[in-house]
Amino acid sequence: MGAWHTASAPGKFVILGEHSVVYGKPAVTLAVDLRMTVAVRRSGWNTMNGDRLDFRRQAHIRYLTRNLRHAVDMLTYSEIPVGSGMGSSAALSAAMAMALASESGEQLSEEQVMREAYEAEYYAQGNGSPMDASTCVHGGGVSINMPEPDGEFLWKVERNGRSWSFNDLKAPEMTFVIGNTGIRAPTGPQVDKVHRYMDRSHFAREVIDDIADVTVEGGKALKNRDVEALGRLMTKDHKLLSILGVSCDALNKLVNASLPYSYGAKLTGSGGGGCMVALTDRPEKVCEAIESRGGTPYVVRTGGPGVMMEPNPPERTGLRR
Ligand code: MEV
Repeated sequence: MGAWHTASAPGKFVILGEHSVVYGKPAVTLAVDLRMTVAVRRSGWNTMNGDRLDFRRQAHIRYLTRNLRHAVDMLTYSEIPVGSGMGSSAALSAAMAMALASESGEQLSEEQVMREAYEAEYYAQGNGSPMDASTCVHGGGVSINMPEPDGEFLWKVERNGRSWSFNDLKAPEMTFVIGNTGIRAPTGPQVDKVHRYMDRSHFAREVIDDIADVTVEGGKALKNRDVEALGRLMTKDHKLLSILGVSCDALNKLVNASLPYSYGAKLTGSGGGGCMVALTDRPEKVCEAIESRGGTPYVVRTGGPGVMMEPNPPERTGLRR
């Protein structure tokens, strides 16, 4: 058995711009203080959380272990609700890429981990943008394809005629409450649904353009720390996403319940279930409202660190064994 190599990456939420970002439009995201941790060590056979596993049967893992010449034990531990639009999949790919590289004696740059994580996501899901991978790798906040970004340029990704430029975004001192519907909704089918709608409807293409406009406006509000304007734009974005068909009753219920105590609220991530987010200065009231409608609230701290090696051996990071 080799020594453990442990890495972690944060979850994320989208302030504005999900779905339209797939078409190269702008978006703004923040990393949260819920993390995914992955530990890897050389072993006699491949295991995942103590069970023998054929890594070829899991698309992400098949991609990330494609160059591995020996078996490994892997342990994973997620604070991020899985399949909820909070980037659990991208955080898993990012932490696994970094832990595997370290196990092979390699040190990857932030951009290399992002490219590896995005390729794993693309290989497993076949669509989507590099937004989740970039946010989970960089941490803090990220702005994508914004007309006048303030923060440092991070990287550019091009694929299928689309391109995404990423800049660092300083996380604002604002309070966001996440509400989880508890309905698992993988990203791929939601992205495909929007794609089919776009293919057959000019109206859907206009809605995507409207989301892009709202996102650019929201970027300005964020810069000016104007919570009222930003909240209004988030709620407007939720309406546009609902027209695109990616909201659902459970999300609408949590959004509506939060609105009396919030500047604004919207679904976050790919929708169809998963999570919503409210911008508020009354987090307790929003949490109560979300709970009263059967959701699970999280008052998240934003702007935490991106992917990183963990000094603790797995025993101390609470990993499943
Ligand atoms: C998922 O978190 C966000 C989507 O825009 C898909 C993507 O950008 O890959 C729905």
